[in-house]
Amino acid sequence: MSKDRQGSQENNNSNNGRSSSTSGGLGIPSREPSLGDTNVNCAKSPTSPQRQERNPSVVSTTAVDGNVLTASGNGRSNPSPPSNAQQSTAPSNAGQPSGQTGPNSNSQIAPLNLSPSERAMMMGKVLKTLIMAASSASPASALIRDRKVPGRGTVRHCLVGTEMVDWLLGLSPEVHSRAQASAMWQVLLDEQVILALSKEHQFKDKFVFYRFHEDAEGRGDGPAGRKPGQDAVRDAQQKKDEVISTLTQLAPDAVLKAILRKPTHDRSPDDLEIIYEELVHIRALSHLSTTVKRELANIIVFESHPRAETVLFNQGDEGVSWYVILKGSVNVVIHGKGVVTTLQDGDDFGQLALINNAPRAATIITREDGCQFLRVDKDDFNRILRDVEANTVRLKEHGRDVLVLEKVSANPSAAHRHSASSHYKYTVMAGMPQKMLEHLLETRLDARHLSVRDEDIIRPYSSATDMFLDDFLLTHIMFMPTHQLITELMRNYRIESPTQDKEFVVASKSRVVNFVYQWVTSIRDPVFDETITHSFFEQLHSEVHADARLYHTLREEAAMLDHVQELLGEYRAARQQGGSLATLTWTLPAGGQSVVLFSAVNAAATAAASNRKGSGESNAASAFSVEKRRPIRADDDIIFRVYCADHTYCTLRQPVNATAETIKLNAADKLGLRHEELVLAEIKSNGEKSVIADTEVSIATCLSINGRIFVSPKDHLDAMTVLPDQEGPSDGTCNELEMFSTRELAYYITLIDWDLFCSVHEYELLYHVAGAQPFRKIKSNLDLFLRRFNEIQYWVVTEICLANTLGKRVQLLRKFIKLAAYCKEFQNLNAFFALVMGLSNVAVSRLTQTWERLPSKLRKMFTEFDGLIEPSRNHRAYRIAVGKLQPPILPFMPLLLKDMTFTHEGNRTLLDSAGLINFEKMHMLAQTMRTLRYCRSRQLLLQPPTPRSEQEVRNYIRNLRVIDNQRILTGLSQRLEPKRA
Ligand code: CMP
Repeated sequence: MSKDRQGSQENNNSNNGRSSSTSGGLGIPSREPSLGDTNVNCAKSPTSPQRQERNPSVVSTTAVDGNVLTASGNGRSNPSPPSNAQQSTAPSNAGQPSGQTGPNSNSQIAPLNLSPSERAMMMGKVLKTLIMAASSASPASALIRDRKVPGRGTVRHCLVGTEMVDWLLGLSPEVHSRAQASAMWQVLLDEQVILALSKEHQFKDKFVFYRFHEDAEGRGDGPAGRKPGQDAVRDAQQKKDEVISTLTQLAPDAVLKAILRKPTHDRSPDDLEIIYEELVHIRALSHLSTTVKRELANIIVFESHPRAETVLFNQGDEGVSWYVILKGSVNVVIHGKGVVTTLQDGDDFGQLALINNAPRAATIITREDGCQFLRVDKDDFNRILRDVEANTVRLKEHGRDVLVLEKVSANPSAAHRHSASSHYKYTVMAGMPQKMLEHLLETRLDARHLSVRDEDIIRPYSSATDMFLDDFLLTHIMFMPTHQLITELMRNYRIESPTQDKEFVVASKSRVVNFVYQWVTSIRDPVFDETITHSFFEQLHSEVHADARLYHTLREEAAMLDHVQELLGEYRAARQQGGSLATLTWTLPAGGQSVVLFSAVNAAATAAASNRKGSGESNAASAFSVEKRRPIRADDDIIFRVYCADHTYCTLRQPVNATAETIKLNAADKLGLRHEELVLAEIKSNGEKSVIADTEVSIATCLSINGRIFVSPKDHLDAMTVLPDQEGPSDGTCNELEMFSTRELAYYITLIDWDLFCSVHEYELLYHVAGAQPFRKIKSNLDLFLRRFNEIQYWVVTEICLANTLGKRVQLLRKFIKLAAYCKEFQNLNAFFALVMGLSNVAVSRLTQTWERLPSKLRKMFTEFDGLIEPSRNHRAYRIAVGKLQPPILPFMPLLLKDMTFTHEGNRTLLDSAGLINFEKMHMLAQTMRTLRYCRSRQLLLQPPTPRSEQEVRNYIRNLRVIDNQRILTGLSQRLEPKRA
């Protein structure tokens, strides 16, 4: 036994204040246990576990007589005593030094059963009758007789262990050894057919006193005093063989239990072998290695509960033990749900709290009398089992899986620092939404609970490796819509009922508030955009304040919700006329130029800009920042054109989230088209037509660069032709470009990109892969960022293909390669990829004469860049390079979307028809979404270039005009440098 363990046991003993006084040398407690006391710790009903205040004095009166085998001594360092019910079962005589009396001593052992079974009574009666018949001849040497017991005077109708064994050996040739005979008496002792005066649970082939149950009950004139009648003796003789055979069969089990009930340090090598043999056959341990099972044999203890409806522990309690059911069954009860499942012999429970360092997720209540368990206490569990515990745990409710957990490496660095703490913890692989939320609240948001624990506790809440909370917040819209989430949060908040423990109620409420706080602060505006959250926040705010008057510890939570209310207030103010989130009108410019950056009519921004200008900010960065755009929002308006086959058009102003159907009907109205069988379609510059589904939203923002929206009767789709202005420019801007400093160009390109990138909410990535329609949300900011990528790429190709002299083309090549180098330097990898991909476009790469004239230094540089965008091995070169960068970073967005799509399409969201969510998929999606957050976790602060032609550069790069028709570009290229014969 470790020193620590001893120490804490002593501590517990004195805390419990239990009597350790004994009478005489037999270890008989001063207060006789009685069966009537045994259920003092039990809950009467699953929903109303009877809890008492955590008061050691209460514990002392209940625990001594509790129907547990041993008293608390599990080495917990937490000074607060566990709840009453838990205390009643928080056990362990495993390390009790021999000879020590008091709560942990064997003298306190409670019976396995409430009363002997009929079969056991019959066997006892038969043996007793035979004993009485044999001893009637010589009463002085009778096996059952009145004896002088030290410290107790004369005790009537006593037997002595050694004599009982002698007698049984002589009774039948089937009884071969003293050990076997002892084991057979052990069966009757376990059944309470015989009782030890010492109250010890182990039968001893020694000078130890026993009595038959009925004699012990004080019926002194009972059968022990009288000679049995002839009929009774005949009957006993007839049943003798059957009784011997039954006892022989039951003996090994009784021996095992007796061994398991011994203090662990008293177990002999033979005992350990017997325990090990038993462990080999237990289902819950089947995944464990031989070594682990042998280690378990040393420390595993036996716990029995004679009565049904005994609470082993309560939901919310600290986890102190892990259990395997040997006999009987238990109900798993959850607040607000009742009995969710039943566990049978061979099942285990109680590992979650230990592995996750979380409170108990459920209350466990025995279902029948005489339930028996094997128990491993926390310290031993952590030392032996935690890291080898089953890899997968499936929790069931009402017969179906509700949570699938898998053990993962928890926090390697912490584990390394504190070797006592585990390397592993459970992470959610799949679950029903409601259950995942409960598990999240229980295991990841108990900040206060965690703070009182050992410092080596893994705090997944803040751990870099545990992302359960963040994953849930980022992806819940895929499997748990906000209205369902807030309903569940409210249910979890209103947990109290008059029968529940105050500490549990406060902890549950606190967790909900912590969740809400994390939700609002990490997801930001989209939480408030769902207006149903407003009344929820208000309601919660007032309830938390009311509760904080009752439970003072909730004051901190009340302050957190004050902050949420403030944020909501700010949001509402920003949404008002003239506020920063007020509805804007964006314009998709008409006519020939390509459209990358929409302009918005934003009175507030303009006013703010002029104010800032007035305050004297003059450097390039601040001048530029006045144009900072705010993200496009779903209820903003957007102005755009819809064309007909004859190229007439109408201009519409629609909310960004207007559906294609609405746009189609409005356009048809304005254009005087009949409504039946109309379609909305995008015509790309290469003539490709794609019909837009009626349910699609954010139509205007997801057009290709030179694409246009057309409305047409369904069967006239073929008649629609490309507008002349869709082809793009016919003259290049080489001369203008040459005037601009490359660094200045890269700088403003990066500022624009950064602005667009920061407007993209992580949710837009989900909408991109899972479709925006189910969420009725828009992904316009992402659309714009992707368009910008394409635009830069085609800009490179367009300019080179429109430069009609070799010299100009070489100049442009040099410019674009240097531009890529600057973008790389600024960590604008999105533009870097776009530029290098533009230079690798076939229309450019085939211009061999141009490339030949490029200085070798630049050619080498380009080769290096080309290697970085090389897609082989899933863009390994890029991933390695970007992995070395610190934010701010502008990542190559198409790759993030490819990763998202790959995850989405390669993994089912629902694992079964009952709604089990594949949370592993959510985790993978969230990992990519987090990349976005990481990349912009630091502000972009570039050294502004010496302004040369600032305004011109900015205008130029905001209005790039490009040809995005590859056929035209290739044609131009061939004209510049015809194919060599
Ligand atoms: P723990 O949280 O330590 O204590 C309660 C135990 O009940 C829990 O570990 C699981 O082992 C077990 N259990 C079984 N089914 C469920 C369930 N559906 N929800 C929660 N706990 C369950």
